[in-house]
Amino acid sequence: MKFFGKSQEATTEPTKEQVLDALRTVIEPDLHRDIVTLQMVKNVAVCGGVARFTIELTTPACPLKKQMEDESRTAILKIPGMKEVTVEFSANVTSRMGVDRPALAGIKNVIAITSGKGGVGKSTCTVNLATALAQTGARVGLLDCDVYGPDIPTMMGIHEKPEGTADRKFIPPERYHVKSMSIGYLVEEDAPVVWRGPMLHKVIEQFLKDVAWGELDYLLVDMPPGTGDAQLSLSQLVPLTGAVIVTTPQDVALVDVKKAIGMFGQVKVPVLGIVENMAGFTCSHCGHLEQIFGEGGGDKLAAKFNIPVLGRVPLDPKVRVGGDSGAPIVVSDPSSPQSATFRDIAGKLCQIISIKNATLAASDSLAVLE
Ligand SMILES: Nc1ncnc2c1ncn2[C@@H]1O[C@H](COP(=O)(O)OP(=O)(O)O)[C@@H](O)[C@H]1O
Ligand SMILES: [Mg+2]
Repeated sequence: MKFFGKSQEATTEPTKEQVLDALRTVIEPDLHRDIVTLQMVKNVAVCGGVARFTIELTTPACPLKKQMEDESRTAILKIPGMKEVTVEFSANVTSRMGVDRPALAGIKNVIAITSGKGGVGKSTCTVNLATALAQTGARVGLLDCDVYGPDIPTMMGIHEKPEGTADRKFIPPERYHVKSMSIGYLVEEDAPVVWRGPMLHKVIEQFLKDVAWGELDYLLVDMPPGTGDAQLSLSQLVPLTGAVIVTTPQDVALVDVKKAIGMFGQVKVPVLGIVENMAGFTCSHCGHLEQIFGEGGGDKLAAKFNIPVLGRVPLDPKVRVGGDSGAPIVVSDPSSPQSATFRDIAGKLCQIISIKNATLAASDSLAVLE
């Protein structure tokens, strides 16, 4: 009998139900529920001790990918007779568009990249984050709302005028898999641009509505510095997913950041995180890290306002050269530590957006149930 029992066990092939049961033990670390209940498991196929399935993420930039893959594999390989597991990934980026206010057709998340003052590296961060996101497979747009000093054409290396569609929309030029739009594509490079509030509002409205963006997971918006008309217009025109604030660690920059946080609070736009740019300079000769602009400023702010620091980008001539030459460092030197930092920041940002979208969606359905 014993012998019979054993041989029967050995010839029983693992089933799809066993795989799903195993995956019910894998917890999504941010949402604290198992990946089957969260309906992230798709296309499960089991044949001859070989399992294959897809984890559908809420962002292709998910930093938890590897962890979930490893835990899934370990859980499935515990099933008797299981020999091999192939985990694939897909992504269906979540959105809150249309819940609070009318959606911007086809655009799932709009993120304003802003700073208290100019010259802190806001455009540099926007370009690198957009490109890093596109490298993960996300559909990304980049809108230059800094109409006073549009730097996106130079930083993305785009100098041609956008073409138009039959229904008179601009086709945003695409480079590094990022679709972008800038006033710099439309006016001569050295022409002075003087915008007053109502005109500026109209231009931003056109950038959002009269550009054939198509389907986008993330639209990153490079804002002018400060807390002026552009910030107000954007927040009135579109339900912003949130804002990212770029700052240098020095004190004056931080004072300006506090103002920006206050302003976004007033228009009910959540601040998703802080990027500390120009955080130290590594000497290329001796490797010493010099804190040119002080240190820890972002941390102090983060603690005070309960906003996470998404990352710190050191001063590095390669970052500047990338911007000047129209090839962001994540493209021109993807293996550099600075590029890794930008990819890391992009992942954290999307993670925060996914959690926000999931939490808000959950509280919505609760409200409906009540
Ligand atoms: N981490 C960095 N290392 C070196 N240079 C940088 C870095 N970040 C930005 N820069 C450079 O500093 C200048 C200002 O950056 P920019 O992105 O245009 O700032 P902002 O958009 O906030 O005005 C640019 O010349 C840019 O190339
Ligand atoms: Mg700029």
